[in-house]
Amino acid sequence: MIVAFSNQKGGVGKSTAAVHMAYWLSQRQKTLMVDADAQQSSSVWAKSLGLAYQVIQDPEDLFETIPQMQTQYTALVIDGPGSLSETTKAILARCDLALVPCQSSGLDLHSSHKILRFIKHATELRSGYPKAALFLSRATKGTVVESYAV
Ligand SMILES: Nc1ncnc2c1ncn2[C@@H]1O[C@H](COP(=O)(O)OP(=O)(O)O)[C@@H](O)[C@H]1O
Ligand SMILES: [Mg+2]
Repeated sequence: MIVAFSNQKGGVGKSTAAVHMAYWLSQRQKTLMVDADAQQSSSVWAKSLGLAYQVIQDPEDLFETIPQMQTQYTALVIDGPGSLSETTKAILARCDLALVPCQSSGLDLHSSHKILRFIKHATELRSGYPKAALFLSRATKGTVVESYAV
């Protein structure tokens, strides 16, 4: 299983959610954290937690090495870059599940439209994969999404 956290916006919680998920999965499965962001925050964090991790930002390297890593690990958690880039495309070409953290303002929801279009195109090319979900991050208790259409 390959789970990726994607959103072209920085500061929405990709790295935080990715490290938390990788840690949770590592208690249950052989898990590798893949840091595809130039800031390398998730790999520094993963290292401090004793998680297995690799830093790979180059899109071609990611595309080619993810299948190899899958032979050694049952779960890969990818922390994506804050950009609509070739790296993001390579991740979406390989992951099973794309999770999009989004803060709870109208502007944040609106800007998520771009990454959701990227995901939709990947899904069309890959006959239904990656599966995708948007989730609210850093929301205050009681926040609700009234309606949202892609
Ligand atoms: N669920 C959360 N609740 C509160 N603060 C959060 C949460 N997720 C992330 N943060 C904080 O928000 C900031 C940006 O998070 P980060 O994971 O680095 O975002 P991104 O990887 O999308 O740039 C950090 O200061 C982090 O501690
Ligand atoms: Mg990050």
